Amino acid sequence: MVATMIAIIIVLGMFPGIPLGFIPVPIVLQNMGVMIAGELLGPKQGSLAVWFFLILVALGLPLLSGGRGGIATMIGPTGGYIVAWVLVPLLIGISLKGVSRHRRPNWVIEFLIVWLFGVLFVDGLGAVWVSAQSHMTMVESLTSSLSFIPGDTIKAVISVILVRRLRRALSYF
Ligand code: BTN
Repeated sequence: MVATMIAIIIVLGMFPGIPLGFIPVPIVLQNMGVMIAGELLGPKQGSLAVWFFLILVALGLPLLSGGRGGIATMIGPTGGYIVAWVLVPLLIGISLKGVSRHRRPNWVIEFLIVWLFGVLFVDGLGAVWVSAQSHMTMVESLTSSLSFIPGDTIKAVISVILVRRLRRALSYF
């Protein structure tokens, strides 16, 4: 499952990033893979998948959207989003485990958890890093990062629908 998850994140990186003129961070699909890792595999295996993926990128494999890789890319303007990705499966996985101790969480609760950590946390931390790495002020980077929220919210919805179906098919929970 961890290997499959790494493969899914790699495949999502084959969709080229869409550049935005006002912030040096593209619109990508790979962050949806990171959300799915936490939702489907939980905190341990989900984190393992994202760590492995990022180690491959750090080693120079061109696995980030647009065929980018290497440490220099990872500590560039998009570095804060990537650092946040490392924590997403842990935060989503632990929260989902917490609310599903007695029964399966309903989709609204599940979506809120994914949105909080997979969208709000990532876009917030990413924006703070952008302002440290570029000439943008904190307010400029935070307001620019808001433009990711609608698309990332759609990705969160898709991930929840997909994972809930997959869990049923794979008899999870
Ligand atoms: C990279 O490829 O260097 C990382 C790109 C990070 C893009 C972030 S993830 C959250 C937000 N939503 C997007 O679609 N893009 C940014």
